[in-house]
Amino acid sequence: MLTATACADLRATCGAADYTVDGVIAAIGTEAHRALGRNSTVPAERALAGRDDPLATMITLFLLQLPVERGAVITAFPGLVDTMIDSGLLGSADGSVRALLDLRPYATDEAGPYWVVSDLTPGMDTVITPIRPDYVLGVSSASTTLAQLTVRRPIGRALDLGTGCGVQTLHLDGHADQVIATDLNPRALELARLTLLINDVEAELRPGDLLQPVAGERFDLIISNPPYVMAPPTTAGRRLTYREGDRSADGLVEELVRAAPTHLTEGGICQILANWAHPAVGSETWADRLAGWVDGCDAHVVQREVLDPGEYVELWLADAGQSGKPGYRSAYADWLDYLAALDITGIGMGWITLRRTDATPEVTVEEWPHPIEQPIGPAIATRLDHVGTLRELPDSELLGRHWVVAADVGEESLADPGGADPRHIVLRQERGFRRAVEADTALAGVVGACDGELPLGRIVDAVATVLEIDSIDLRAELMPRLRDLIRDDFLR
Ligand SMILES: C[S@@+](CC[C@H](N)C(=O)[O-])C[C@H]1O[C@@H](n2cnc3c(N)ncnc32)[C@H](O)[C@@H]1O
Repeated sequence: MLTATACADLRATCGAADYTVDGVIAAIGTEAHRALGRNSTVPAERALAGRDDPLATMITLFLLQLPVERGAVITAFPGLVDTMIDSGLLGSADGSVRALLDLRPYATDEAGPYWVVSDLTPGMDTVITPIRPDYVLGVSSASTTLAQLTVRRPIGRALDLGTGCGVQTLHLDGHADQVIATDLNPRALELARLTLLINDVEAELRPGDLLQPVAGERFDLIISNPPYVMAPPTTAGRRLTYREGDRSADGLVEELVRAAPTHLTEGGICQILANWAHPAVGSETWADRLAGWVDGCDAHVVQREVLDPGEYVELWLADAGQSGKPGYRSAYADWLDYLAALDITGIGMGWITLRRTDATPEVTVEEWPHPIEQPIGPAIATRLDHVGTLRELPDSELLGRHWVVAADVGEESLADPGGADPRHIVLRQERGFRRAVEADTALAGVVGACDGELPLGRIVDAVATVLEIDSIDLRAELMPRLRDLIRDDFLR
């Protein structure tokens, strides 16, 4: 493996060549960059034609996975090539050098520039390459989703469970005093170590299964993009460690949700990207199942998508490079049999956020498949804050406060042509979850009057007078809906 000094040299060398996300886009153009995102290398190769400068060499080696003449590689990585070959990052044959591992720039609007080490992306230019069972995945769309939903506030201790290439630890380093990163796969820990050294980020790396490496310890934040894919083991009993746990169905996610509270500090947060089973009709619903896993925590489960078994199998067979392979049909059938034997009729995909509390927990399990503002982490954090506030706030006090409708909330109303009254009123957020809430005249009237001038109770009473209804009845009717609007950040 590379020493800390070699990693620091590598960081300096990549930075000096502008081997960054922006530098790569500037070198090959946005179209070719998007093509690389689809695993197509031809547009980028054409954009770099005739170039042998360090940036072009780095892109060709690591992003296009093409061989480069040794002299150009020595120019790109002066004094580092032998070390990179010895460590297994590069391979050399017949005067040319090629990448054996992936080393790519990574950044978000909020963080970076970073470089991430992982196994090579399979399936470049549709060439099917087998994935080893201990394959270490690079930054994927799932990694980005988890990074965007993570609540980022200054904290003491964070746990990155199933660190893989180490990408979540890079983000945690920005707001946690101490990060522990674990993985079941020893290769993942080796590559995460390189990622951390190259970025000069410190974290403690520990091997082991789920929460076993941190037995008896507590954290302010636990995040995990665990191997949640529900797949049958191969006939040799193997699974792809990066995506398939060794528990049956969604057992690994359930185990994590059940165990997390004993590893959280009071108020500590655990966020998990997950898939979960939809049981056959007649048994408990998927939402009841998930709510039943939660104990001692506020919970916010958001189902973003549901796939039927066929769609699910196709997605993950393609992900593993099985499309077009001879065994595709039998693998598809085996997988369907596996799901059917477990009585799984659909698979939900989404996010689980838990916050440990000694108070009576609030558990919400909802479907929200609509577009949202990214990063969504701040909206998740705000909602948790409001859940805490509302728990402490009896109705009488809530009605006595002066609320203001949030600046990003608008009202849409639809009326029959020429009609006096709206047929349909919707309160719509432009930010965060971008929720839309159907409102009747009374609720819309109350929300519309929330400009901070009057206490809520007086507004409800005034609306009751205008609508000629009993104000006690209106308070009782609106109270749960007003609580929802406060929790979901329509009213502040
Ligand atoms: C989908 S990858 C996520 C990697 C990275 N955290 C990210 O967000 O891109 C899941 C990681 O969990 C690890 N893993 C698999 N089974 C595990 C287990 N039982 N306990 C801990 N980690 C596990 C895998 O080796 C893999 O690195």
